[in-house]
Amino acid sequence: MLDRPEPMIRRVALTAVLTVGLVGLLGAPRGAASAATAQAEGGCEVSRPATCSLSELAALVPLRIGSTAEAEEVVDGPYADTLAREFSSLTPENALKWYSTQPNPGEWRFEAADAVVGFAREYGMQVRGHTLLWAQDTYTPTWVSSIDNAAELNAAVETQIRTVVGRYAGSVARWDVVNEPLSTLGTGPSDSVFWSVLGPDWIADAFRLAHELDPTAELWLNEIGSDWVPGKHQALLDLVSGLIDQGVPIHGVGIQGHRLNSQPVDGVALAAQMREFTDLGLSVAITELDVATDPSDPDGFTAQAGVYRSMFEACLAVAGCEEVTMWGLTDASTWLDSIGIVPAPTRPLLFDEQFMAKPAYWAVHGLLAQQVAPPTSSTTSTPQPAPNPPAPPTLMPAAPVPAVPRFTG
Ligand code: G3I
Repeated sequence: MLDRPEPMIRRVALTAVLTVGLVGLLGAPRGAASAATAQAEGGCEVSRPATCSLSELAALVPLRIGSTAEAEEVVDGPYADTLAREFSSLTPENALKWYSTQPNPGEWRFEAADAVVGFAREYGMQVRGHTLLWAQDTYTPTWVSSIDNAAELNAAVETQIRTVVGRYAGSVARWDVVNEPLSTLGTGPSDSVFWSVLGPDWIADAFRLAHELDPTAELWLNEIGSDWVPGKHQALLDLVSGLIDQGVPIHGVGIQGHRLNSQPVDGVALAAQMREFTDLGLSVAITELDVATDPSDPDGFTAQAGVYRSMFEACLAVAGCEEVTMWGLTDASTWLDSIGIVPAPTRPLLFDEQFMAKPAYWAVHGLLAQQVAPPTSSTTSTPQPAPNPPAPPTLMPAAPVPAVPRFTG
C-alpha cells in the first residue's frame, strides 16, 4: 500500500498536473480528459492504476472522495495514514455536532473538532462541517430541545451558529447547515424543537446566518433515506425548491447513502433523483455511504462491492455530483455495529479491521481508474448505472456571542 502522502505539497502538485491535463479532450469519460499524461507528485501513474490511491484517481475525474474521523482516529497510526492517503474530503463524525461543541449553555468544547479540522488542513483535505443543526431532538442537547420560547431558542441557535461557523471560517469548505429536517421514515417535518418552536422559517434563517458568517463556505442540506423512503425524495425536492424560491443561499444537497444490507441499488433511479437537484442549480453528493453485510454470508463482500460500484456509478453519471463520502474508514469502527438492528459485525466499509483494502475498495478503485484511463480507440462513454431492481434497505430510523478565538489550525 502507498505511504502517507507529504502534506499539502502533494495535493498542490496533483492539482497543477490535473489543470494542465484537463485542456483539450472532449467527449471522453468524465475523467479521461485529465489523465493522459497526469502523474501525481506521489508516483500515481494512471496507466498503472495500482500506483494510485482513491483520492489520486478521484481528483482526475474530478470527484471528491471522503471519509470520517473522530479526534482519537487522526493521531499517528494506520487510521491517519489510510485517511490521508486515500481520501480528499473529511467529515468529523461527531465532533462538530451541537451536543459535542456546546453540551451545556456556554460550555464550549472544540478540542475534538480542532484535531480533526487540523488534520484535514495538514493533509489538504476539504472538511464537511457536520452539522450545525440536526433536526432531531434525540441528537440535540436537552437544554436546547427543552426550550419552548421562540425568542430564547432563536438566541441559542444564533449563538451556536455564530460561534461555530465563526471559529472555523475559512477552514470548513462546506457545512451541513441542517441535517435531517424530514421525518426519518416519512415525508413530513422531523421531530424537532426547531420546527415546533421556531416554525417553518428556521431552515432559511439558519442558512442566511451561516452565509453571513462565512460567505466562502458552501451551505448544504443533508438528508437520510430520501432515495428510498416512499415520497421522501419529492418532499426533500419541494423543501429545497422552496428555499431557492426564497433566495436562500443553499449550494448543495447531501443524500445519505446508508445501506443496511447489500441489496442491489437502482443506480438509474438514484441518478435521476440527483439530477432533479442539479437541475435546480445545486450540487449533490452521496454522503454517509456504508453498506452492511450479513455476517453469516461468506460471500457478503462480493455483493457489497457491487453496491459500492453502483453508488459511485450513479454519482459519476450526474454532472453535478461532486463527492462520495463513506461513513467511516475501517470495519473496526462503524456506527452500524451498535444500533442493534442489523446483525454485527456488519463490516460496511472499504477497509477491513486491519486496514486492508476489501473487494469494495477495488471495485471503486477500478471504476475510478476506468474513468481516468488514457483514451484509447475503444474508450466507451461515461458508464451509466446498471438498472437494478430497486430494493430499498430497511434503514434504521437519525446570547452576547462569547469571545471564542477563531480556529487557526
Ligand atoms: O463519546 C461518548 C463516550 O464518552 C461515552 O462513553 C459513550 C457512551 O455513552 O458515548 C459516546 O458518544 C457516542 C458518540 O457516537 C461517539 O461514539 C454517542 O453516545 C452516540 O450517540 C454517537 O453516535 C453517533 C450518532 O450519529 C449520533 O450522533 C454515531 O457515532 C454516528 O455515526 C451517527 O452518525 C449519524 C450522522 O451524524 C447523521 N446521519 C445518520 C448517522 C447515523 O446515525
